[in-house]
Order: sequence, then structure tokens, then C-alpha cells
Amino acid sequence: MRILITGHQGYIGPVMVRAFKRAGHFVAGLDIGYFRDCLTTPLDVLPDQEITRDIRQISAEDLRGFDCIVHLAALSNDPMGELAPELTLQINYEASVRTAQLAKSAGVRRFIFASSCSLYGAASGDEPLTEAAPFNPVSVYAISKVKSELALRELADDSFTPVYLRNATAFGVSPRMRFDLLLNNLMAWARTAGNIRVTSDGTPWRPLVHIEDIAAAALCSAEAPAGTVHNQAFNIGRNDCNFRIRDIAQAVAREVPEARLDITGETAGDLRSYRVNFDKASNHLPGFSPSWSIERGCRELCDWFNCRHETADSFQSRRYIRLKQLKHLVAERQLTATLRWMDDEESTTNDRWPASTAPANADARV
Ligand SMILES: NC(=O)c1ccc[n+]([C@@H]2O[C@H](COP(=O)([O-])OP(=O)(O)OC[C@H]3O[C@@H](n4cnc5c(N)ncnc54)[C@H](O)[C@@H]3O)[C@@H](O)[C@H]2O)c1
Repeated sequence: MRILITGHQGYIGPVMVRAFKRAGHFVAGLDIGYFRDCLTTPLDVLPDQEITRDIRQISAEDLRGFDCIVHLAALSNDPMGELAPELTLQINYEASVRTAQLAKSAGVRRFIFASSCSLYGAASGDEPLTEAAPFNPVSVYAISKVKSELALRELADDSFTPVYLRNATAFGVSPRMRFDLLLNNLMAWARTAGNIRVTSDGTPWRPLVHIEDIAAAALCSAEAPAGTVHNQAFNIGRNDCNFRIRDIAQAVAREVPEARLDITGETAGDLRSYRVNFDKASNHLPGFSPSWSIERGCRELCDWFNCRHETADSFQSRRYIRLKQLKHLVAERQLTATLRWMDDEESTTNDRWPASTAPANADARV
């Protein structure tokens, strides 16, 4: 198949490219390039074609000839959403839906959307949430995923199969690491500062999933007979990977026993807490069998740190924290405040970076 992966120069993207290439597909990547310089290890597998493009500016011609699009491109966490809510909606929602509309008009038959379990938000009740649970988003980022799913549903018909992969919070080693993600962040604290710093009170529930299992889910969704995935949402993760944050911290402590566990409670404002039922993907997404436990993920991350010289400062730098990199590019006047490259003819230099109402430590909030 001919596959287009948007957002292929991010954290999940290189692992996604590798999974599709190893399965024998032709893979093109399309990305605006916000994090292209944030590589930490060389790419082991390259896409067959690379398109540098803002998804807000693509045309049907960019998408013609592909059988399937895996749509990862987005502003990818809550802190970015809080700083620039309108841009999060513009890129994650409006441009995603437009991309799908253009794809459909160009004859692309399948559109795999990287959604998120965060659309369940502040969940009540004791039962883990199935795909039928109500949406309860508590951030602009999560709202952008809900609005996208609802709009994409309207495009589903005999010629166009959207699939919604509601990924849990990711962990794992990528050529473009992120340390603004929960498990990666806790391991980074443990390995660089010798303490495991939980900034909430540790009680919220959070399901986790390895990035290779996310890539496997997208690959299964692309290869499945259309009838098995048509217009379907799948929670992507494992039932035994629903944890309270303090349990995740304890898993890190077991891997790094010399580190001190420190529960600070300073980010009580993060309302997310959800336990998720992952049966549907395991039972109905053909071939999908997520294989990564967090213990294995902790060992993988430890091995990564064993081969590098990271410090508490370096892991919190713009190389690894998405919002810091965007702020840097804007401060350096490489990006406008609407996150378009300065030399892009559609950019206007009058764009102002929105004033932040977020707390000073919000860039790295996990
Ligand atoms: N990482 C997670 O824990 C997680 C969990 C659930 C869902 N997701 C979703 O998976 C996707 C990928 O996440 P990630 O962790 O790799 O994020 P990331 O921030 O590392 O990568 C996102 C990529 O999208 C690109 N991008 C952003 N805006 C763009 C635009 N206007 N035009 C073209 N490219 C653009 C960026 O340059 C970047 O390469 C996102 O949609 C995210 O919401 C991620």
C-alpha cells in the first residue's frame, strides 16, 4: 500500500514509519518540521518520500495516490493547548478535518486518526471506560480530538473509512524523545536528579501505552478489511496498563532503586483521571496484540539513559519538551505566533504569540 504519515517528524512518527516500512509498504511523511532538529539518535528507517508542508496549507494534490493516511500531525499536549487554544483548534481540529475532506476528494480510502484517551477527561464511576463512554474533555487539546472525531464521522461512507485510535499516554524510546510524557518524565527525573518527582498528588488514573504498540495499532487498522474498522473508535493500550500515577512512580523506583520518590502535589489543577477498557482493540482490531508492559518500558528507558549523558537541565530542554521548542522558535523569530515559518508567504509578521495564563512550570507538565 501507499501510506502517507503526517507528523512523521515527531515522537511517534519515526516509530510509525519504521513499522509501516518493515511491513513492506511505500511510506511518505508530511510534516511542518517544528521538531526536525530534535533528533537524539539517528533514524534507522527513512520514509520513501518527505513532504515539508503545514497541514493548514495542503491541497488535494498532495494527497492523491495514497491508499491510506495516518494522521499524527498536531499540537500534541495540554500545555500547548493552554498557551494557544485557538491554534490547537486550528491545527488539531480544523486542519485535520480539512485534510480528511481533501483526502476523500483525492480518492484516499482510509484515514487513521491519532485520537487520545484524554477525551474521556475527568471520568466518574468505577468501571474502566469503553469506547461507548461519554466524552468529558478537560483541555482544549482533548476538545480538539472530540471535535475531530465527531466531524470525521460525517465523512464516512462506502468510499472513505475513517478510524479513530484513542491512544493512551505514550511511553518508550524514539529517535525523537519526549520527556513531557508521564513515564518518560519520571524516569528522566530518576536517572538524572536521583528523585522521582510526581507533581500531582499521585492518585489520578492514567493508562499508558508503548509507542511501538501505537504504531502496531495503526498498521493493523491500515491492513484490516474495511468492514472491520469502518468508522470505528478503538482505545489503544492494555487493560493491565491502567495505573494511578503513584504506581507508575513506584515502577520507576523499582527500576532505579537509588532514586527517592517525591510526591509534590503542585499541579493539582490537572483534572484528568480515567481508567480505560481496551478489550475492543484486542478482540476486534485484526492482528492487534499490544506487547509492552511498563516494566519493559522502564528497562528500555534505563538502557537509553545508560548510553547517554543527560542531566536534569538537559532533559528539560527544548530538545525534549515540545512547548519549549515552539516557544524558542517563536522567540528566535523563525516561527510567527501562528506557528508558520517566517519565510512562508502566507505568514504575517504581525502575528502575536498569545499571552500565557499557564503557570510557569507548565511547559513540562505531564
Ligand atoms: N504522545 C502521546 O502520549 C499521545 C497520546 C495520544 C495521542 N497522541 C497523538 O499522536 C499524535 C503524535 O503525537 P507525538 O507524541 O508524536 O507528538 P509530537 O509533538 O512529537 O509530533 C507531532 C508532529 O506533528 C507536526 N505538526 C504539528 N503541527 C503541524 C502542522 N500544522 N502541519 C504539519 N505538521 C505539523 C510536528 O512538527 C510534529 O512533528 C498527535 O496527534 C497526538 O495528539 C499522542
